[in-house]
Amino acid sequence: MKKIFVKTYGCQMNVYDSERIIESLSEKGFTQSKEIKDSDVVIFNTCHIREKAAEKLYSDIGRLRKNSKTKKIIVAGCVAQAENTEIIKRMPDVDLVIGPQSYHNIVNLIPKLDKKNKFVETDFPLESKFDILKKRSKQEKKPTAFLTIQEGCDKFCTFCVVPYTRGSEYSRTTREIIEEAKELIDQGIIELTLLGQNVNAYHGDNLNKKTANLADLIYELSKLPDLKRLRYTTNHPNDMNEDLIFAHRDIEILMPYIHLPVQSGSDRMLKLMNRKHSQNSYLDIIEKIRNSREDIAISSDFIVGFPGETDKDFEKTISLINKVNYAQAYSFSYSPRPGTPAADYENQVPKNIKMERLHHLQGLLKEQQINFNKNFLNTTVSILIEREAKDGRLTGKSPHLQSVYFNNEGNKLNIGDFAQVYVDSASVSSLDGSIVENR
Ligand code: SAH
Ligand code: SF4
Ligand code: F3S
Repeated sequence: MKKIFVKTYGCQMNVYDSERIIESLSEKGFTQSKEIKDSDVVIFNTCHIREKAAEKLYSDIGRLRKNSKTKKIIVAGCVAQAENTEIIKRMPDVDLVIGPQSYHNIVNLIPKLDKKNKFVETDFPLESKFDILKKRSKQEKKPTAFLTIQEGCDKFCTFCVVPYTRGSEYSRTTREIIEEAKELIDQGIIELTLLGQNVNAYHGDNLNKKTANLADLIYELSKLPDLKRLRYTTNHPNDMNEDLIFAHRDIEILMPYIHLPVQSGSDRMLKLMNRKHSQNSYLDIIEKIRNSREDIAISSDFIVGFPGETDKDFEKTISLINKVNYAQAYSFSYSPRPGTPAADYENQVPKNIKMERLHHLQGLLKEQQINFNKNFLNTTVSILIEREAKDGRLTGKSPHLQSVYFNNEGNKLNIGDFAQVYVDSASVSSLDGSIVENR
């Protein structure tokens, strides 16, 4: 039996893809190894979003090459799609380069790999990988899973590689998604996170072959009896329609959390980024969402130091953050990506200024995050237990996606159970508490 080791970089969709690759290989007799040194085949499932992410791949391959000449090396994911044959030129020990739309071919290609035969599969094939990678057979026992419902992007923000690496926007049918959800639920999954690069642009066929939006799909999924929680990520502000906003009010299993990337608070920057929304239009959406569900947690992505960003532009981002008051957020300094329009813009911002701004912005976001978490002090939150933490306590997520830690008093609860936890301490990244008895 061959052993595979998969290292996953980047976003949740890569985590989903890696799981599906492992599942399809295990059907063919492969087993997953937890250590790279025990494996026969190594798959790097890569991310191209920022320079650092891509460079990490090359250093990982370099390190592996020093230690082993016998392993088969596969580069999958967004670096594979973006750099294709260049990867083999730069790293001749790589045996297969395979883009995100071709994963169904991995199973057939692995037996053909020997150091003389190298393959590059980066076309966008006509058949969908989803039709071929059918059944879910989860390898790990856990109560939560990702489910890709939409892939690719047609928005072409000027900083972003995703439209090039994932291709144009594609939505799976509601029928296909429900089937996969059922397969996952049969294996004990009770929380699903629906994934897409623009998940709220979902426009797949519904059960009557008419176009459904994300809210329609969520209504259908909420009918599955054993599904207890639903989430979705990641969104574009312009696709945040009223149906979806009201779904947060009307559907009990839809969790009160929305990741709504804004990138910048400056309309001038937003225009140069080709975002097609303004600070005001974004704030209007936030207001509508909060009117629909008051306690919702809002999170976002920010880019600082986009070409041409002045102190004044940056202040507009700070002012937007103060107006929204985020529960959580991710922030990055702008990284020029080859092939994207903004990489060629003049007025690139010097690194030290980017770092200064990032530091300032992250300080503010951290403050907001801790304040958000403190709102939950001395309240009881419902936690879906995901795993045992390193210190022996149990941990899982609150409805608002906070990590919560607590002691399993009397060892009564298991992974996959819900715990009612009374919160007695709150930090930036987590809540701590104890189980409330008799509930
Ligand atoms: N589809 C999502 C984002 C996908 S990429 C959206 O529309 O928001 C995830 C995040 O990475 C982006 O939101 C952005 O904040 C960041 N990002 C993308 N390209 C980047 C670049 N060139 N430099 C720095 N951050 C980048
Ligand atoms: Fe990238 Fe998101 Fe913009 Fe698409 S909408 S180009 S994925 S940042
Ligand atoms: Fe990275 Fe590709 Fe995801 S570039 S963020 S792995 S879509």
